[in-house]
Amino acid sequence: MTANPTSFPGLFGCGRVEGATGEWLRPGDGEIVRELFERSGLRLGAKVLDVGCGTGESLAWLERHGYSGIGVDRDERTLAIAASRVQSALFHGDGARLPFADACLDAVLSECSLSQMTDRRAALGEWWRIVRPGGRLLLADVDWPSDDGRDGLREDVEAAGFAILHHEDRSKVLAGFVARFIFHYGSLDPLWGGRDCSSTDRRPRYRLLVAERAAEPTGSAHP
Ligand SMILES: C[S@@+](CC[C@H](N)C(=O)[O-])C[C@H]1O[C@@H](n2cnc3c(N)ncnc32)[C@H](O)[C@@H]1O
Repeated sequence: MTANPTSFPGLFGCGRVEGATGEWLRPGDGEIVRELFERSGLRLGAKVLDVGCGTGESLAWLERHGYSGIGVDRDERTLAIAASRVQSALFHGDGARLPFADACLDAVLSECSLSQMTDRRAALGEWWRIVRPGGRLLLADVDWPSDDGRDGLREDVEAAGFAILHHEDRSKVLAGFVARFIFHYGSLDPLWGGRDCSSTDRRPRYRLLVAERAAEPTGSAHP
């Protein structure tokens, strides 16, 4: 597989951005998960797969608020931490290739994991497959503006077969995130992997997106 230019470079893209306590540094913190669910229209008890569940902070939030969470992560060390704090089913694996039947979930939650995947379209296509028609994609993540001004993230979400219900640019939270990053790592260099962020139109964005799984995909995310 060739590397996807939409995936995130640097430490963020490797999923290795940790704070002093070993928790992932997450641009939106747990607050973003609450906002996503408030806008989701999901009923209590909804079955939600947290792709890239990390140490289980979002899963713990789901449990506290009456949703039925399942977590997958490619990192066994963080899964062990998650197992010590949540009751939800957890499994080790690639969030872009999931051992679930078609249309068996109410929602996929991806908080800062899609940007770490080598093939964004393939991951979105897989999430479309496992979410039921009318179910939700809940996304909070960073992405880079493209040179031609197109919104690749939105395009890929729609091409995969999701209708966007809510979309918000929350890039302001990145300012606090990079401050915490510098405090922990000493500089910003490892974060962006050498990309030039000197002008505002080249800087990464952080976005919140809620989408509904449509009956049919429209684009190239599916073979
Ligand atoms: C910022 S953390 C997510 C934090 C998590 N939402 C929480 O509540 O603590 C991103 C996670 O995505 C995981 N990840 C990245 N790429 C992945 C992939 N292809 N499959 C599964 N997990 C992946 C990383 O290992 C990391 O744990």
